[in-house]
Amino acid sequence: MQGVARNFFTLAIVYALIGMGLGIDMAISQDHTQMPTHAHVMVAGWLMSSVFAFFYHLFPAAAASALAKLHFWLAAVSGILLMAGLYLLLAGNEAMEAMTAVGSIGFYAAMALFAFIALRTVYRPA
Ligand code: HEM
Ligand code: HEM
Repeated sequence: MQGVARNFFTLAIVYALIGMGLGIDMAISQDHTQMPTHAHVMVAGWLMSSVFAFFYHLFPAAAASALAKLHFWLAAVSGILLMAGLYLLLAGNEAMEAMTAVGSIGFYAAMALFAFIALRTVYRPA
């Protein structure tokens, strides 16, 4: 694994370690306030980044494109804004709502970019 695939895989592992750590913290403290943060870090972070990693591993030509690099950086930066923003928002910092909103829109845009990259790849005539 290399390039964009490896970047996404590394990001996925980081999300898994942080998200599960948060899950354990919630379970021990019996305070589930951060449940939406945990859920998004695990599913939108660990699972989605893993899917992207294996997609780019299977399709190296797609991974080599400039669009794939753009997809990685957009997904990484917006995902971190979204999830860190959500954590701070649920911790009571209402000023973080704007950051979370920007992160959400960026994360959606990254998914739309991936839809273009992936569908163009899988529908290309053999
Ligand atoms: C160290 C392991 C984990 C611990 C201690 C843990 C703990 C928790 C806790 C305490 C909740 C809140 C439950 C509630 O308030 O109803 C929760 C919810 C959730 N967890 Fe985890 N979790 C772990 C791993 C995972 C993993 C590996 C995933 C997914 C890949 C995951 C996905 C979710 C989701 C999606 C929810 C929200 C469920 C809902 O909407 O009701 N968790 N987890
Ligand atoms: C554009 C980015 C996204 C936004 C703005 C968003 C927003 C939301 C909102 C408002 C909820 C309800 C939370 C609550 O009732 O407390 C939610 C729940 C959930 N979302 Fe997302 N979401 C986004 C992306 C995703 C993605 C990409 C996934 C999975 C791949 C996902 C998985 C979940 C899950 C599992 C829940 C239920 C757990 C919970 O209630 O916290 N979300 N999301």
